[in-house]
Amino acid sequence: MPNEGSLKWLGMGATPVLALAPMQAVTDLPFWRILSRYGGPDVYWTEYLRVHSTSIVDRNIRQAILENPTGRPAVVQLIGNDPFHLVRIARELEQLPVVAIDLNLGCPAPVVYRKCAGGGLLREPARIDCILGAMRDAITRVRFTVKTRLGFADASGWDELLGIFARHPIDLLTVHGRTVAGMYRTEVDYGLIARAVTTVGCPVLANGNVWSAERAREILRLTGAQGLMIGRGCIRNPWLFDQIRAVQAGREPRWPKGREVLEYVEALYVETAPPGDFVERLQVEKMKKYLNFLGEGVDPEGQFLHRIRRVSNRAEFEVVCQDFLDHDHPMPLEPFVRMEAANPGVD
Ligand SMILES: Cc1cc2nc3c(=O)[nH]c(=O)nc-3n(C[C@H](O)[C@H](O)[C@H](O)COP(=O)(O)O)c2cc1C
Repeated sequence: MPNEGSLKWLGMGATPVLALAPMQAVTDLPFWRILSRYGGPDVYWTEYLRVHSTSIVDRNIRQAILENPTGRPAVVQLIGNDPFHLVRIARELEQLPVVAIDLNLGCPAPVVYRKCAGGGLLREPARIDCILGAMRDAITRVRFTVKTRLGFADASGWDELLGIFARHPIDLLTVHGRTVAGMYRTEVDYGLIARAVTTVGCPVLANGNVWSAERAREILRLTGAQGLMIGRGCIRNPWLFDQIRAVQAGREPRWPKGREVLEYVEALYVETAPPGDFVERLQVEKMKKYLNFLGEGVDPEGQFLHRIRRVSNRAEFEVVCQDFLDHDHPMPLEPFVRMEAANPGVD
């Protein structure tokens, strides 16, 4: 399938495209379902699927793709370094209802990069060249896309990487504008994303720190990208995609009231619980992971997060949520502390 330089294959006429970032242990079927109620992105990425010699298509990822309740296209992401097995799994995935297969070139988790997968591959451009060549040749029924960081320790090899991406040619490039060493803490380099936009020859999505509709507009201006990919910002604020659409259309975005945010938290609790009997304590711990992001936008003193981190059962959890969210005031849900958010540990 040729690279047409447009994103019509996403069913999109006008840009910018708004994409849900792949997030391990977050962007599963229940999370897709919840996001779609708030307007949701134009395209949904899965969590990454690890590919090695004995890999099969993960049951949860297959189910998300087959049951995709969002009415919007899905992209499945692979992480691995063996061209033979990446192609084997890609051929299997091409039979499923996905619009594209995406390769992860960014994961900063040591357990991944030390095996020379994800972000670890950025130290070996020749290997990336070989993998992209094999996958580009093999993937014929759907699109082939790449999500990358700027480099491993620094961005000195960025132009070489862009040359490799241009050579194959991929259908879409998402750039998380940090190096692997930068994890989630450093400034996002929107200038280097802009360089990808002008040189790579395929559409580019800008990724990193899109946490408000105003900021989205600024990042689109700085990068010239055809769209945005959003991760932590939409865990914090699932209304964000519609707010961005409103600002792009020259309308005022709508801020959810506290009570609507409370309903969102309740939906997360109920719908992300595993089916059947589940252990309440584990579900409360799981909620703390989502609320690490949401909590940054609840109160400037960080009291909400301070208390949430100390609860141990559902009743305590609900009391804290009600204390902070059971009100009618509009909530912008932007992070109060503009640190380059807490390190989530995975990518
Ligand atoms: C909890 C979590 C899990 C992630 N898992 C993945 C993943 O599976 N694949 C991937 O390419 N990136 C992953 N990322 C990185 C995000 O897709 C995104 O590139 C990064 O968070 C920067 O975007 P943001 O500022 O909008 O969050 C993950 C990030 C987080 C916070």
